[in-house]
Amino acid sequence: ASFPDVELALIGGQQPFVLEELKSRFKIHPVYAEANPLAALERIGSSIRGAVGHGMAGLTRRHIELMPKLEICALNGVGLETSDLPAIRERGIKLTTTPVLFDDVADLAVSLALSCCRQIPLADRFVRSQQWEKERLPLGRKLTGLRVGILGLGRIGIEVARRLEAFKTQIFYADPVKREDVPYTHVTDAGTLASTVDIFFLCAAGNPKGAPPMIGRTIFDALGPRGIFVNIARGWLVDEPELIKALQEKRLGAAGLDVFYDEPMVPAALRALDNVVLTPHIASSTEETMRAMGACVIDNLVSWFSGRGALTSVT
Ligand code: DGY
Repeated sequence: ASFPDVELALIGGQQPFVLEELKSRFKIHPVYAEANPLAALERIGSSIRGAVGHGMAGLTRRHIELMPKLEICALNGVGLETSDLPAIRERGIKLTTTPVLFDDVADLAVSLALSCCRQIPLADRFVRSQQWEKERLPLGRKLTGLRVGILGLGRIGIEVARRLEAFKTQIFYADPVKREDVPYTHVTDAGTLASTVDIFFLCAAGNPKGAPPMIGRTIFDALGPRGIFVNIARGWLVDEPELIKALQEKRLGAAGLDVFYDEPMVPAALRALDNVVLTPHIASSTEETMRAMGACVIDNLVSWFSGRGALTSVT
């Protein structure tokens, strides 16, 4: 189905194949690519009926004011913290996400933990630089059998836990909701979790940027010099300067990070450390999942503008 009269504003960048598909079905305005996206929306916003963003580029109150006919916003991703949910609900706008990425995010979380334990990036550099010809790599850590903690046992956290079961780990979690349907041990708060486990996985839904970070020095000190911290959630949930200090001073053993405070800028002090594994916010970036997420965006818009309603809406 195509809707050449329906105008869409792209408020966040998309993979080329999603862009092509959108272009073939709708009239699109890639406002995110303009020097001043809001000024662009001031010009064209009055005829826009749909918007497309992503987990890090959501729908704000200002966007909504500039698009009085907006009916639906399809986010490519699951992060909601950059969208103004009260404003969206007030106007009765449908907001959809792409709840098809949980496996990949959990896979990366476990990869980061394994990479920290077994020092895979360091080992790779060791071979490439021919350091191996001169000495042995310092010993790594055994992941199997460790105590692991998950902060946020949502749809990502639960997939992380399931994977960690295969490593014969003892699994603890902190979450406002104590689940009766899982064989994992509930603890009341992040601090208790950190003082109980060897590896701490941050899987919580994001607060908006600017809110006080939920993870800081007390968590890192509770994890301690053999503790490992993994973040696949949002960089700003963490006090990044405190994380860097803890890693520099070896008060915290290691960190595996896919997200950062000010992406794509990563502090030089963090990049200089050997006890970190850093990836560029790629937890859902597999060909398979990016295709599935793109299809979910398109399917929601097509279904909505065909009068059949949205498919994966959160409002
Ligand atoms: C999400 O889905 O929110 C991811 O972080 C990608 O933006």
